[in-house]
Amino acid sequence: MAKLKQRKVETLRWRGGRLQMIDQRILPTRFRYLAYRNAREVAEGIRSMVVRGAPAIGVAAAYGVALEALRLARKTKNGKQFARQLEKGISLLAKSRPTAINLFWALNRMRKVWNKNSGMKLTKLAARLLHEAREIHEEDIRINQAMGRHGARLLKSGMRVLTHCNAGALATAGHGTALGVIRSAVEAGKKISVFADETRPFLQGARLTAWEMVQEGIPVTVITDNIAGHLMARGEIDVVIVGTDRVAANGDVANKIGTYMVAVLARRHGIPFYVACPQSSIDLKTSHGNQIPIEERNPLEVVGHGKIRWAAKGISVRNPAFDVTPAELVTGIIHEGGVIWRPGRKGIQRALQK
Ligand code: MRU
Repeated sequence: MAKLKQRKVETLRWRGGRLQMIDQRILPTRFRYLAYRNAREVAEGIRSMVVRGAPAIGVAAAYGVALEALRLARKTKNGKQFARQLEKGISLLAKSRPTAINLFWALNRMRKVWNKNSGMKLTKLAARLLHEAREIHEEDIRINQAMGRHGARLLKSGMRVLTHCNAGALATAGHGTALGVIRSAVEAGKKISVFADETRPFLQGARLTAWEMVQEGIPVTVITDNIAGHLMARGEIDVVIVGTDRVAANGDVANKIGTYMVAVLARRHGIPFYVACPQSSIDLKTSHGNQIPIEERNPLEVVGHGKIRWAAKGISVRNPAFDVTPAELVTGIIHEGGVIWRPGRKGIQRALQK
């Protein structure tokens, strides 16, 4: 495994036989790592949003499988028992969140390694699974850096970039997808400033994107989600870049709730709308965006925060965590192999075959 440059934000790390993850629920007021020992704990970390963002969820799930295998290999020499328990762990991880395809992609990849090495001694198999999780982790950073290089070419110095949610180092193993493009442009000497939609209701923009940009000294302005149209109309936004949880085979893009609104506004104002994602976020088995499962989260996220409640009791609440932007509104998908312009079935297939 090639050694990579030390990252500034280490969203996930392997320490002392455990997975450690930055607790993203409490950023930016507090910073702490939480440690995970088995698949059940990692699944809970994903479900409760300690770790979030499609690629980071995938990496965490891969470590979850490895941790479970290591734990079981210490407990038993019985292959059948090991297999039964490991299946249980994988199934817990698969149920943790439904929308990000990277979760299922990572679990499949771990399963393939398991199948290929099923004759191995259990302790060796577990070590092999850990090796694979670490590969997925390192690969994600390399992919984001490649994506950053392709995307940075699309940005000119002086550009003001609007982003929605957090598709940064915190949403990946490092560097980020949408924020990775911005980082790479800045590293190439371009002056870029960022508008971060606050991203109701979980505030990934206000809490996480803003924090990441401050760490790097990249100028950032936080806006409420309903300000974007106003700024676009005044000519204050040059380009939109977002991440995604899943791209359907026809190029429809699921991303954080509110992204669709931004894409419609961008089209109305003739502003390019880019999506940055690893190829592992493209799901050829999902034909159209309307087939992507959309997570509905706890209504309490919408009606208040902590002990404060601002909406009347007795109301109904909807809290879908993602929406789907139709392919026709997407200027280009930036991935590790280049850019898919005006994405559609053929363009996507061509890009994945290369
Ligand atoms: O609910 P979250 O915070 O997991 O949602 C994250 C997003 O919507 C991101 O934009 C997406 O996962 C891409 S992350 C590189």
